[in-house]
Amino acid sequence: MQIQIQKISQSRISEVDFTNLPFGKIFTDHMFICDYDNGQWQTPQIVPFGDISFSPALSAIHYGQSLFEGMKAHKDKDGNAFLFRPIDNWERMNLSAYRMCMPEVPQDIYMEGLKALVKMDKDWIPTIEGSSLYIRPFLFATDECVGVRPSDKYRFMIICCPVNAFYAKALKVKVEDVYVRAVEGGTGEAKSAGNYGGSMLPTKLANQLGFDQIIWLDGRERKYIEESGTMNLFFVSEGKLLTPSLSGSILHGYTRASILQLAKDNGVEVEERRITIDEIIDLHKNGKLQEGFGAGTAATIVQILSFDYLGNHYELLPVEERKVSLKLVKLLNDIKSFQSADPYGWMYKI
Ligand SMILES: Cc1ncc(COP(=O)(O)O)c(C=O)c1O
Repeated sequence: MQIQIQKISQSRISEVDFTNLPFGKIFTDHMFICDYDNGQWQTPQIVPFGDISFSPALSAIHYGQSLFEGMKAHKDKDGNAFLFRPIDNWERMNLSAYRMCMPEVPQDIYMEGLKALVKMDKDWIPTIEGSSLYIRPFLFATDECVGVRPSDKYRFMIICCPVNAFYAKALKVKVEDVYVRAVEGGTGEAKSAGNYGGSMLPTKLANQLGFDQIIWLDGRERKYIEESGTMNLFFVSEGKLLTPSLSGSILHGYTRASILQLAKDNGVEVEERRITIDEIIDLHKNGKLQEGFGAGTAATIVQILSFDYLGNHYELLPVEERKVSLKLVKLLNDIKSFQSADPYGWMYKI
């Protein structure tokens, strides 16, 4: 596959303070672009990072045919770049594309574009402990047409941001009892932009009440726990790891999948099933609920300190006493930071 490449004349890298990177605001020198037109993917390009220009009638803006992915690249001590589970991200992007009635991005365009871009901007992969290059592939409709129908034209792009370790503080969360994020049959399983737009008001209202994040319940019965922010959810009860099964309205997180694999291979009993909020509260009342955490690419895992539901407050174990989640996050971080072998082939060398 041929990629047309236009390099920047002068890198911006010397202007960047790699010890203080605001998440998602500093971009590398280049970006990848591939347009879809006339039923075909056109010649991909890598060009200097910069603004793009579109008609005010851009259909992605009006009708929300827009989706994205998120993954990270890491550098080992010899300077080799690795992507974490990129093929899984490609597969998930295409599941999202199918649901949003958008063309699938062929594997060679996705992978060759990703590899070429990260190779060109490899110096931007931070080497400070815990830092990484956050990669944002995205696809959006580019017809210039005010009319509700699938677009004929699309653009696939990849941009990258160096980011520092995400030292997320443990969260106080509210179990949301008014709004819902998704229902089975809806777009909750897709990483479509609108899902995130819809989550902003309930999250802001919870923030105003002093919570950091919300736990979504299922949209049909408001009974089953689903996910939280941009993370999948886990609880630990009597040493056993509990997580909601993929119900059709939850994102298939790769951090979730990795944590489940590591748990199974390291002697942690796992239950992946539908879990009601009432069951979680009963476990808490009976002194059996020990840990809770969210899992996602940005932070790996974020501890849940406490949760509130219908005005009642429930505290979990102090973070430093959380044996199961601390063990699992260490196992995963050791693979990602090349401290331990990667028997699963999750780290994809570029
Ligand atoms: C809604 C939602 N759930 C879960 C996740 C976690 O997925 P992953 O571990 O693949 O980043 C994300 C982040 O991508 C998300 O946006």
